[in-house]
Amino acid sequence: MKISHLSAECVPYAKTGGLGDVAGALPKAQAARGEDTDVWLPFHLSAAQWFRKRLTWPEQACDPFVIGIMGQPYGVGILKSTLPGSNVPVYFVAHDPLFHRQGGLYAPSDSGIDDGLWRFGLFVRAAIEGMKRIGRKPDILHCHDWHPALGAMLTAWSSWRDRWFDDVASVLTIHNIAYQGIYGMELFPALGLPADVAWGGQIEFDGALNLLKGAICAADIITTVSPTFAWEIQTPEGGARLDGILRIRADRILGILNGIDTTEWNPATDRYILSHYSAEDLRGKADCRAYLCHLAGFEPADPGMIVGAIGRLTDQKGFDLLLEAAPELIRRGIRIVMLGSGEPALEGAMRLLEAHNPRRFRAFLGYDEALSHRIEAGSDAFVMPSRFEPCGLTQMYALAYGTLPIVRRTGGLADSVIPYNGHNLASANGFHFEYASPGALAAEVLHAQHVFFQRDIWHRMVLNGMAVDNSWDHSAGQYADAYRRAREVRGLPL
Ligand code: ADP
Ligand code: GLC
Repeated sequence: MKISHLSAECVPYAKTGGLGDVAGALPKAQAARGEDTDVWLPFHLSAAQWFRKRLTWPEQACDPFVIGIMGQPYGVGILKSTLPGSNVPVYFVAHDPLFHRQGGLYAPSDSGIDDGLWRFGLFVRAAIEGMKRIGRKPDILHCHDWHPALGAMLTAWSSWRDRWFDDVASVLTIHNIAYQGIYGMELFPALGLPADVAWGGQIEFDGALNLLKGAICAADIITTVSPTFAWEIQTPEGGARLDGILRIRADRILGILNGIDTTEWNPATDRYILSHYSAEDLRGKADCRAYLCHLAGFEPADPGMIVGAIGRLTDQKGFDLLLEAAPELIRRGIRIVMLGSGEPALEGAMRLLEAHNPRRFRAFLGYDEALSHRIEAGSDAFVMPSRFEPCGLTQMYALAYGTLPIVRRTGGLADSVIPYNGHNLASANGFHFEYASPGALAAEVLHAQHVFFQRDIWHRMVLNGMAVDNSWDHSAGQYADAYRRAREVRGLPL
C-alpha cells in the first residue's frame, strides 16, 4: 500500500514533542515491513539548519509552483530527502516567509498573529499539488493532529471538483486532543473547501472553525495513540469538548499504542550515554547514574533514589504536582532531576526549588536531546504525573533503560506501565497512582522508594521493563489493519 504521512513535525528535522518522534519512526517501521511510505512536512527553519550544519541540501522534487490562497499567490518549492538511516522519502514544502520562524515551529508571525490556519493550509494544499506533480498518489493520506487536518477534509469533500481524491482514503491520528486548530470563520475560504462545508456542522464549532473537528468528521478512520485514550476522548472529561462528535464516529475510532525507535533509544547503542548496558549486563547503568550525579551536582555515593522527569512544561504534564510534592520527597531522601521548558511559572518554581535544595533538586531548563538520554539512563525511577497523556513516550524510554516509571494512571501511561501490587513480580515494571494531587504522587513515589531498597524486587522489575517489546513493528501492523479498514469503508479496493 502507498502511504503518505502529513505532519508538522518529524525527527530529526523538526520536533517539539512525541509527534516528531512518531512521524520519524512509524514510516521507517512501515518501510521495513515492505510498505511504500513517505513523509511530507513543512520546511521549517530547524530543517534548513539541520541540512546546513551537515553541508548538504535536499534535492528539488519538482519545479516550483504557485498556490493561490484568497487571491494571494504563494511560491512553493518541494524538496526531497530521506529519513536518516532509511530510504523513506521525506518531502518538504518550502515557503520560507511562513515556515522559517525564529521562535519555533508554532511561533506566531512577526506581528504576533497566530497564522497557523494559513500556514498549515498552505502546507497541505501545496503537498497535494506536489504529489500530483511528482506523480505519486497515495492509497492512504495519513494526517497527524490538527495541522494537516485539511488533508482528510479535502479527501472526503472534494468529490466532483477534484477526481484525484476518488481513490484516496484518509486516516487521522489524534496525538493530542488539547490542540484543535481553532480560527475565525472568516478564514474559511483559505482552506479551499466547498462553500457548503462552512455551515454544515462539520468544521464549525461554537461559531469558529475547528480543524480537528473537521478532520474527525471527514476521516475514513480515526486513530489515537493508545487504547485507553481512545476511550477517554469519548467521555466529557477527556474529550476536550469534542467527545460528542467522537461518540458519533465511535465505529471509526481505533487506539494504537505508539512504539519507540530502538535505533535512537537503546542503552546498548545510545550515542549520548557514558556507558552502554543491557539486561544481560547492567554494569553500565551504574556509570550512567554516576555521570548524571556529576551533571546534576548530586553526591554519587548517596544510595538514595534518583527520580528523573522530562517534558514540556504545560498543564497536561502535571509537573506542578511534582514541584509541590518535591519538598516532602526531598526531606525523605529522594533526589529529583528535571528537564523541560514551557510555562514561565513552572520554570520559576523549578529554579526556586533548586536554589533551596542544592545537591538534591536539579532543574535543567530548555530543550536538550543528549541530556534527555542521560536522564533516562542515569535515573533510578522516572515520574510522569500527567493530567492526561494520549500515549507518552518518555515512560517507554524509561522502561527500555531499566528506569522504573511512576505514572498517573491515564491514557497511554495506563496501557504501557504494569504497576507493582506486591503479587505480580512476574510482570510488574512500574508504579501507578490515581489522583492528580501532590499527595497521591508523593505517596506513590515513597512506595517506589520502599521497593527500591528491596534490591531483588527492584532488579526483577527493571528486567521486566527492559524485556517489554515496545518496538514499532507491532504497532505498524495495527496501522496496516487501520489502512485496510479505511479503504474498505470508502469502498475502495484494498
Ligand atoms: P509529548 O508529545 O506530549 O510532549 P511524549 O512523551 O510523547 O510527550 O514525547 C516527548 C518527547 O519530547 C520525548 O522524546 C522527550 O524525550 C522529548 N522532550 C520533551 N521535552 C524535552 C526537553 N526539554 N529536552 C529534550 N527532549 C525533550
Ligand atoms: C502527543 C501526546 C503524547 C504522545 C505524542 C505522540 O504530543 O501528548 O502523549 O506520546 O503525541 O503520539
